[in-house]
Amino acid sequence: MSRALRAAALAAAALLGWLAVAHAVSFEVKDGNSTCIKAELSASFFIMYSTSNGTNTVNVQLPSSAVVDSGSSCGSSGVSPELLASFGDGHSLGLVFSKDDRLYRVLNLSLTYNLNDSTYFPQSSKKEIVTLDTNATGISAQLNTTYRCLSSSSIRLGGSNVTITFSGVRMEAYMPSANLSSKESVCSADLHATTVAPTQSPTTAPTPPAPRNPERGNYNVTNVNGTVCLLANMGLQLNVTYFSKSQNKTVKGIVNLQPNRTSFTGLCEATTATLVLMDGLTNLSFAFMLNVTSKKYHLSALNVSAAWPDMTAPFTVGNSSLNYLQGTLGRSYMCTTEQILPVTNTFSLNTFSLQVQPFGVTGNKFGTAEECQMDKDNMLIPIIVGAALAGLVLIVLIAYLIGRKRSHAGYQTI
Ligand SMILES: *[C@@H]1O[C@H](CO)[C@@H](O)[C@H](O)[C@H]1NC(C)=O
Ligand SMILES: *[C@@H]1O[C@H](CO)[C@@H](O)[C@H](O)[C@H]1NC(C)=O
Ligand SMILES: *[C@@H]1O[C@H](CO)[C@@H](O)[C@H](O)[C@H]1NC(C)=O
Ligand SMILES: *[C@@H]1O[C@H](CO)[C@@H](O)[C@H](O)[C@H]1NC(C)=O
Ligand SMILES: *[C@@H]1O[C@H](CO)[C@@H](O)[C@H](O)[C@H]1NC(C)=O
Ligand SMILES: *[C@@H]1O[C@H](CO)[C@@H](O)[C@H](O)[C@H]1NC(C)=O
Ligand SMILES: *[C@@H]1O[C@H](CO)[C@@H](O)[C@H](O)[C@H]1NC(C)=O
Ligand SMILES: *[C@@H]1O[C@H](CO)[C@@H](O)[C@H](O)[C@H]1NC(C)=O
Ligand SMILES: *[C@@H]1O[C@H](CO)[C@@H](O)[C@H](O)[C@H]1NC(C)=O
Ligand SMILES: *[C@@H]1O[C@H](CO)[C@@H](O)[C@H](O)[C@H]1NC(C)=O
Repeated sequence: MSRALRAAALAAAALLGWLAVAHAVSFEVKDGNSTCIKAELSASFFIMYSTSNGTNTVNVQLPSSAVVDSGSSCGSSGVSPELLASFGDGHSLGLVFSKDDRLYRVLNLSLTYNLNDSTYFPQSSKKEIVTLDTNATGISAQLNTTYRCLSSSSIRLGGSNVTITFSGVRMEAYMPSANLSSKESVCSADLHATTVAPTQSPTTAPTPPAPRNPERGNYNVTNVNGTVCLLANMGLQLNVTYFSKSQNKTVKGIVNLQPNRTSFTGLCEATTATLVLMDGLTNLSFAFMLNVTSKKYHLSALNVSAAWPDMTAPFTVGNSSLNYLQGTLGRSYMCTTEQILPVTNTFSLNTFSLQVQPFGVTGNKFGTAEECQMDKDNMLIPIIVGAALAGLVLIVLIAYLIGRKRSHAGYQTI
């Protein structure tokens, strides 16, 4: 590794580390006097739930008030060690560990949330406690080392539309002493941190000039039965007005979503379809609505949440009364030209080379494209120019013919 690359990697890691400190919550599980699990982490939960008039998406941050629940344990024969962190009104995050002679891992990651809690789930139509889990966590480390993953990584809970995003993680189970081991097992995302130039990251203070056009990402939502129900190919750029810590004033942050590190999820229902994109500390959710009578769909809601380190507070805004990207059921909506979609007075979304189809997708591919007016206008320009040129040629020709006739007539008079 070159010296410059190593320096960049360290800078990125330091940045991520600082980030982690900003929101990290610490937990310690003890059995009598001996500590068996210690964890420092930030987590956010993307949860979709039903309301009387559709689906709503929330991004809940694990609050610093979260505590180690009495359900936690260091384990015993036949019982695995568990960290259960409870927060708010009946919510909890659970990590069950297992080990072999070399490695320990998170065997089961679970989230319990209480839809009765209207502070997190306003207007929820169901009033129940939901528990979801997965055993595909990808979290493992060598025994007697600290698992370190400062980069953010998202884990989807078993076949659901709930995603947990961890960042700034330092933790250890089966601890040989009361302190985190100094030796670390670094997750692969952190090892690849060198490929993410810090200047391109939305985790740096976005300052003008605006970045170049965003890359186009392909985001598909799949049904429970495995068929694609929503297709979206688009480049996205966020325009966020927020108060900058470093500049001590309100600034406009122009940030591109980077497809290769954006994870996505979604949900398709009869008349609503949702797409959620997560790029590090930026979450963006789209809700589309279908009018069954008119067989027309449109983008009805956009929500964004961002927790960039230069912000004094996380930025969360949305608007559920939008009417953008209107198309016909079974067809796709296309707009190659850049579109600016104002959402609130502090947030707008710029789309580039967009093609979406939120309903009536057949055979995993886009239906006939309906082009936006701007594309049609752009198509008109060459036609108008062509017509104008043809007209000009005609005028010149007529003028020439008339002129020739006149001069011909002139000869005859002489
Ligand atoms: C825990 O530590 C305290 C003081 O350090 C000691 O008095 C107590 O006996 C210890 N308890 C156990 C179960 O080791
Ligand atoms: C749902 O309906 C309630 C009242 O019935 C309204 O206050 C709320 O804004 C609606 N939400 C959406 C997303 O349309
Ligand atoms: C995972 O943990 C949750 C909560 O402790 C539990 O309800 C669930 O049964 C566990 N799943 C598996 C596969 O062990
Ligand atoms: C971990 O540390 C404990 C106590 O220091 C030791 O007994 C054990 O052999 C170590 N295990 C590994 C895999 O290094
Ligand atoms: C998959 O499920 C959707 C509705 O959820 C249904 O319309 C479609 O026919 C199903 N496809 C298959 C192949 O079962
Ligand atoms: C960002 O939004 C502001 C309005 O809030 C607008 O003046 C500015 O041109 C936008 N910038 C870009 C690059 O879209
Ligand atoms: C930020 O700006 C305000 C007024 O514009 C000033 O009072 C304050 O001292 C500044 N803070 C810093 C840290 O520069
Ligand atoms: C993501 O894309 C950028 C720009 O194309 C590239 O420089 C970077 O290496 C990619 N990162 C990963 C992890 O693939
Ligand atoms: C659906 O479209 C029909 C016909 O254009 C219109 O009358 C009706 O109000 C629309 N329904 C909704 C919920 O927007
Ligand atoms: C939401 O969008 C609508 C339509 O573009 C707009 O009239 C309204 O002011 C927006 N609401 C907020 C809170 O910005």
